[in-house]
Amino acid sequence: MTAVLIDCDPGIDDALALALAVASPELDVRAVTCVAGNRPVAITAANARRLLDLFGRPDIPVHAGAARPLLYPQARTNLVHGEDGLGGVSLGGDARPVATPGLAAHAADALAHLLLSPLGTDLTVVAMGPLTNLALAEIRHPGLLARARSLHIMGGAAHCPGNVTPAAEFNFWADPAAAHVVLTAGAKLEVFPLDVTSQAAMTPAWLAALAAQPTRSAQALAAMLAVYGEQDPLLHDACPVAALLRPQLFSGRTGRLEVDWRPGPDEGCCRLHQDGEVNAALYTGLDTDGLLSLMAERLARLP
Ligand code: BDR
Ligand code: CA
Repeated sequence: MTAVLIDCDPGIDDALALALAVASPELDVRAVTCVAGNRPVAITAANARRLLDLFGRPDIPVHAGAARPLLYPQARTNLVHGEDGLGGVSLGGDARPVATPGLAAHAADALAHLLLSPLGTDLTVVAMGPLTNLALAEIRHPGLLARARSLHIMGGAAHCPGNVTPAAEFNFWADPAAAHVVLTAGAKLEVFPLDVTSQAAMTPAWLAALAAQPTRSAQALAAMLAVYGEQDPLLHDACPVAALLRPQLFSGRTGRLEVDWRPGPDEGCCRLHQDGEVNAALYTGLDTDGLLSLMAERLARLP
């Protein structure tokens, strides 16, 4: 079993990724940390808590983290996932507090706590929002992220246009300085940019099959995806989770990945160079049918 910490900003595709992770017996989800991204952090953390409760995992701790990026006073949010981040779909249940007794409450501290524990070198960190929490933890404990078994990151647009500016993908654009800190931390990086996630497209038949399942989880996820699919039918954040389960679905190359973190029109733009020290595996190819069937099989296991 692979121990994972998931850092996220739910977000509808984040919700699908959380569902895939907790429905997969190969993964031991130790904690979920949340960041300002799609919506402010108070909303993303509450959404993560309610999603995990819906998926039958009230035991997984959720920690709220950074409310703003490193360089900017305000979070860079978006409305692709609606005002509430989940397409206005009610999950039922009361919002519970997200801090967990026994662990430090802030997401960056929870991440550091796990990575500095004996488990740390076996922990895979899956990051599917702006990288502020990871960067804060690294700044506080230099060398921390290099302890992880790997960082699986959804972010960037390497050889294709961005989705928020012509140059940049949302997660890297929302906190480019944090992305720079993480990419230069000496960690083992597996990066899933728009190049590959733009192939993670759900089909009407796949969505109809999900909607036909009678479980509360499937009904809620299908309702969210029906809203989200009108704007962005791509299951971006499921990719770094799916790669832990079926690495053979993905192909790519290694190199030196860097991000333009300076304010300006190119901020958040990333490039893979073939000179210098290799710091990342960057994925660009996907077996889309394989991903969709893996997801269908796993989502059917949820309550
Ligand atoms: C990323 O941005 C967010 O809107 C999604 O949740 C995903 O993590 C895609 O660019
Ligand atoms: Ca996300």
